[in-house]
Amino acid sequence: MNTGAEGVETAIKLARRWAYEKKGLPENKAKIIVCEGNFHGRTITIISASTDPDSYGKFGPFTPGFIKIPYTNIEALQEALKDPDVAGFLVEPIQGEAGVVIPDAGFLQKAYQACKDKNVLFIADEIQTGLCRTGKMLACDHEGIHPDILILGKALAGGLLPVSAVLADDEIMLCIQPGQHGSTYGGNPLAAKVAIASLEVLRDEKLAENAERLGTILLDELKSIRHSSIELVRGKGLFCAMVIKPSNGKDAWDVCLALKENGLLAKPTHGDIIRFAPPLIITEVQLRECIEIIKKTIQAF
Ligand SMILES: Cc1ncc(COP(=O)(O)O)c(C=O)c1O
Repeated sequence: MNTGAEGVETAIKLARRWAYEKKGLPENKAKIIVCEGNFHGRTITIISASTDPDSYGKFGPFTPGFIKIPYTNIEALQEALKDPDVAGFLVEPIQGEAGVVIPDAGFLQKAYQACKDKNVLFIADEIQTGLCRTGKMLACDHEGIHPDILILGKALAGGLLPVSAVLADDEIMLCIQPGQHGSTYGGNPLAAKVAIASLEVLRDEKLAENAERLGTILLDELKSIRHSSIELVRGKGLFCAMVIKPSNGKDAWDVCLALKENGLLAKPTHGDIIRFAPPLIITEVQLRECIEIIKKTIQAF
């Protein structure tokens, strides 16, 4: 596919088709469990799964078939899985847009097992966390789990052009036959070639190791900044967030503007969180320069 949202749409279609063909659910009954605070894209079906009014507000009516549970809450997942019409559990291994929210250790592993026990597909949206960002090829690798359906985007094309992909074993993938799903530019040769080249760079330049090593430096340095406006710093690999306490009428957006003036681009989310997701090819010298800019900017806040 092209965008991440199309990848997620495809994964949802695949899970529903699998549920009717392999699990034997009555047609039009399949449900997908999603997590509060999720961000999976901006199409009508995907925002129907959102709990963020900024995403879904005034865009209804919405697509049915989603059960929303709190993130990283295994009891809520087990309860939701009691519904026999559940086809899949769609989850970000780390919630990116929500502000790099990292699940409790062991949650993904337990969630995966709970899905297996109920013959429900574990669908990992690794559009943001995938392909070396968190210090491993996939964020799911941190807990040694192999999703039934994996969604990739963003880094798959090295930021060059839109490419997203959905991966699954044949047992699931072949539930959709040729001609039953596609798009004009889906699987186009240029995008496929770019994605392959991008994967080779990620592997050959050891960008997972780079993200793990430099991510530790970034997190330690961000945590070492002492300032009353910093509430919390969290992260994994080159994927960090700083929660900012608004002061003097200024919030995370103002910090990002000041960062930009000082030469560094970062993205605010939800008004009080700044997300740091440096390029995976960043060097230690460049990273330390970034850290100095962040320190200088925060101290002047
Ligand atoms: C986890 C996740 N899923 C899906 C998407 C949607 O991707 P796109 O904006 O390419 O449609 C994003 C985009 O930020 C994302 O972070």
